[in-house]
Amino acid sequence: MTRPRRLRTTPALRALVSETRLHARDLVLPLFIKEGATEPVEITSMPGVVHHTEASLAQAVREAADAGIGGVMLFGVPTTRDATGSGADDPDGILNVGIRIAVEAAAGRLVVMADLCLDEFTDHGHCGVLDARGGVDNDATLLRYEAMAIAQAEAGAEVLGLSGMMDGQVFAVRSALDASTANGGTGFPDTAILAYSAKYASAFYGPFREAVESTLEGDRRTYQLDPANRREGSRESDIDMLEGADIVMVKPAMSYLDVLADVAQTSNVPVAAYQVSGEYAMIEAAAANGWINRRAAIEESIVSIKRAGADIVLTYWAVELAGWIK
Ligand code: PBG
Repeated sequence: MTRPRRLRTTPALRALVSETRLHARDLVLPLFIKEGATEPVEITSMPGVVHHTEASLAQAVREAADAGIGGVMLFGVPTTRDATGSGADDPDGILNVGIRIAVEAAAGRLVVMADLCLDEFTDHGHCGVLDARGGVDNDATLLRYEAMAIAQAEAGAEVLGLSGMMDGQVFAVRSALDASTANGGTGFPDTAILAYSAKYASAFYGPFREAVESTLEGDRRTYQLDPANRREGSRESDIDMLEGADIVMVKPAMSYLDVLADVAQTSNVPVAAYQVSGEYAMIEAAAANGWINRRAAIEESIVSIKRAGADIVLTYWAVELAGWIK
């Protein structure tokens, strides 16, 4: 008789044969910095996650580095918004301020990444600029992303997280970074691109919208992927790799493990997955009600994301999980 149970006999045996291991270095912590904030304020729908002030952001980055995680992904929450999202490429815009603070606090101990998208900065809440009929204008938006990329690279971001889902965005940003005459004439050839390649139009971003105080008019279905489509996730990441993406990402994570497994099989660049705000909120809410074992559920969810093929996991639990791994 074949007895698979034999290798499950003791904790030590189970640990020895475990196929998937979590490492603090694989984890990236998303962080929000809010313009004008005088104290960190918890986001109601994301217990344990806050809007940072400049000072508390620096502190959070130092704690993340102490915990040994791989990086932070920064989001900005501005006080004013307009049609073109002009705060996004303003060197004094809140996200660019946050990048400079994070880079200094990190002191090379972890990787500083920045979200590159217009939705936090536009008054209509879309990830791009609108055309005369109110649709998102793909190619006009690319010009905005190029300006935003230069501003973020100048602020010191090492990895730009392109999350807008415009066609051609990776190629446009790569070309702009390389052709820039900023940075003493050399441009930014070393600034890396993490492409949110397979980003689905998901209900699981709900708490994030509260976090960035976005008032979205309509929805994102003309640019984010249809949750029904599996092949399209692979197609998008193939295109992004050809356009020069250094890392590709699938998002959300838990409801898209099939897409993640597909991308991980064919990708020749590292693959990331984003465990998004709604995934976080679901587990926190169930745990707060005593309906689920919080720590076990968090660990299982992230092991599953790695098992499906993620090299890198963006999760709001990054620092706490790193503490458990130790
Ligand atoms: C777009 C962006 C979003 C998230 C990350 N980047 C929101 C969206 O596309 O609506 C969601 C992250 C999360 O839900 O945790 N800038």
